[in-house]
Amino acid sequence: MPFAGRHVVLGVSGGIACYKSCTLARRLTEAGAAVDVVLTAAAAEFVRPVTFEALTGRPVLTSLWERDRALAHIGLAREPDLVIVAPATANVLARAAMGLADDVLTALLLARTGPVLAAPAMNDAMYAHPATRANLKGLVARGWHLVGPDTGPLAEGPSDRPGRMSEPEAILAAAERLLLQRAPWQGKNVVVTAGPTREHLDPVRVVTNPSSGRMGYALAEAAYARGADVVLVSGPSDLPLPFGVTAHRVETTAEMQRAAQALVKRAAVLIMAAAPADYRPAQPGATKRPRAKGALTVELEATPDILGSLTRPAGCVVVGFALETGGDGVARARKKLQDKVLDFVVLNDALEPGAGFEVSTNRVTIIGKDDEPIELPLLPKRDVAERILDAVERALT
Ligand SMILES: Cc1cc2nc3c(=O)[nH]c(=O)nc-3n(C[C@H](O)[C@H](O)[C@H](O)COP(=O)(O)O)c2cc1C
Repeated sequence: MPFAGRHVVLGVSGGIACYKSCTLARRLTEAGAAVDVVLTAAAAEFVRPVTFEALTGRPVLTSLWERDRALAHIGLAREPDLVIVAPATANVLARAAMGLADDVLTALLLARTGPVLAAPAMNDAMYAHPATRANLKGLVARGWHLVGPDTGPLAEGPSDRPGRMSEPEAILAAAERLLLQRAPWQGKNVVVTAGPTREHLDPVRVVTNPSSGRMGYALAEAAYARGADVVLVSGPSDLPLPFGVTAHRVETTAEMQRAAQALVKRAAVLIMAAAPADYRPAQPGATKRPRAKGALTVELEATPDILGSLTRPAGCVVVGFALETGGDGVARARKKLQDKVLDFVVLNDALEPGAGFEVSTNRVTIIGKDDEPIELPLLPKRDVAERILDAVERALT
């Protein structure tokens, strides 16, 4: 849980995007944060405090004048690791920029010295207005961080100009990066491969495997949160691209190899979490092969060995994955580590329940060059990603 032990204040002002703040409060809580929600009076018109109380399991502050909580806004300005304002209305941004303290949220913001992350959300003309531009500029100059706004449909209709609040997942990712960034990853290029690859038998039939890409996507997300510049070389996957990560989409193993080879030149870390197809039809058809009676024999040829063929820059930390189906996996993983000159091999067993393909959890053993293998319990893939990055981080420093 990336926010375990962290305290976050979620300030909600009165924009229509308030409904997305419920999801954000939920996601932050699920990620392990203790979340205190502070509502402006206008926000409480959109979403009642009880909704946030139920989502976070904590009381919600809506006024400076609540009995028994006289100086709560000062405590909530000082104590949290992060204050997020989402949505941040044009009005709340103006009040904060002016240094007003005329309600509980702006009083808290004025007393705040630690990090603040705001997600502006408003009509596109309000966002483009010179007053809003100046207010945002002033707040950024004072150290505020911004996420969004996005371009896209607004409550009042279609728009092709910025104004729409970033999605909760993007706000969460920006918050993670603010809280979790670590010195060894700053300015480092990290390349992660993910997902399956697909090899065509003909235009409509493919040889592939059930990899979902979840492990690689979780690694990319976690590396971004630590402060790295991340490129994800992804085979076909339905997963949403993690916020802040650059995608390089490929289909075949040869395409993945070319992309990885081009990108690794500038990489400090290369993590090969993809499950590329090892074989491809030797003679793919240009047109659909008609169904015929009897068996079909297809000759398969080996695809390029991506890990074995990459030329990496000196000092690049390389992590390979070994997917086994029982047997002496550790010995085979160690051999892979040596043969392919890797820094780490992450071993998992495709037959173990809850591990491997298509599930959100994994149970892996991290095998390094010198250390004893680190056997992890069954964990969510994001937590597995954090433990893998911990091992890489030790090699980076
Ligand atoms: C239906 C409705 C939707 C609104 N949506 C927004 C919005 O998305 N962004 C914004 O800046 N103001 C929006 N407003 C205007 C704010 O609610 C208004 O400026 C209010 O004073 C904001 O107060 P606060 O900043 O203290 O929460 C909306 C108002 C209404 C009635």
